[in-house]
This record gives sequence, structure tokens and C-alpha cells, in this order.
Amino acid sequence: MHLPRCRAAAALVAALGGLATLPASPVLADGMLTTEAGVYTKAQAQTGEGLFEQHCLLCHDNKYFRPVLKRYDGQPVGVLFDVMATSMPESNPGGLLDAEYVDILAYIFSRSRYPAGDEPLTVGELPAITIEDP
Ligand code: HEC
Repeated sequence: MHLPRCRAAAALVAALGGLATLPASPVLADGMLTTEAGVYTKAQAQTGEGLFEQHCLLCHDNKYFRPVLKRYDGQPVGVLFDVMATSMPESNPGGLLDAEYVDILAYIFSRSRYPAGDEPLTVGELPAITIEDP
């Protein structure tokens, strides 16, 4: 599961290699993937958008999350997931399915300019993906 993603990450590096302004890297020195590595799919982000509008938009516009991701820079996505899945939506903490929170994360990533990839984000891999300052 990680191999195609690493390949996608390598292709991304090749494609974006010429951009001197690109600060983020899809794979860290220790081999951990980051949120720059194409860790979710476009379709998943679209599903997440619907869920976001239904459950989150009331209190958070989609600009809310970039500063949040900046605060979580360098931490595993799993940490942010745990916060979301246990405290949000504020009116119904933990009220969504894990898979729904993950789809919402994919939407948040898409709004934070992280690239989409070929495989959907899953709950199990969240601890192994590092949040990169968006
Ligand atoms: C009824 C209002 C309300 C709804 C609905 C809501 N939130 Fe929040 N959310 C808050 C408040 C209040 C805070 C904390 C204050 C702040 O940082 O703005 C917060 C904070 C957050 C944070 C920041 C946590 C941190 O550690 O900084 C995240 C992420 C978040 N919400 C995600 C979501 C998601 C995802 C949904 C939908 C599933 C959602 N929220 C729905 C009110 C809400």
C-alpha cells in the first residue's frame, strides 16, 4: 500500500523539483510520509466536503483549518484525528463514524493545498503520516 504512494511522491518531487519556493517534502528523512505525499483521493475529499457542510460548516468555514494544521505541524495526522473525533462537532462530539471523520480530513487537506493521490486515506495509517506546515 505504501509503495505506490512512494512512487507517486517521487513523481511529485520530480514534477515540482524545479520550484524553488516549494518548502514541503512528501517523505521525511526517516521514511515517514507527510501530508504532501498524496495521501487522500479527490473523490474522498468530495465526500468529505458534503459531510463538512452538513456537520462542521455551521461553526467553521473552510479557511479555519490552515492555521490549525500549522499548529499541528510535525505531528502525526492521528493526533488531529483524535481531537476531531472525540470533541467535534462541538454539538455532538464523536457523533460521526471514523470513516466520516477521515473523509472530512481529506476535504480539509484538499483545502489546505495538499495534493490528492491514488489511494484513499484510512484510519489505520493516520499515526504514520506527518502533518506538514501547509
Ligand atoms: C457547534 C459549533 C461547532 C461545530 C458544529 C464544529 N465545531 Fe469544531 N470547534 C468548535 C469550537 C468552539 C472550537 C474551539 C475553538 C476554536 O478553536 O475555534 C473548535 C475547534 C475545532 C478544531 C481545532 C482543534 C484544535 O486542537 O485546535 C478542529 C480541528 C475542529 N474544530 C474540527 C471540527 C470538525 C471536523 C467539525 C465537523 C465534524 C466541527 N469541528 C464542528 C465548534 C464547532
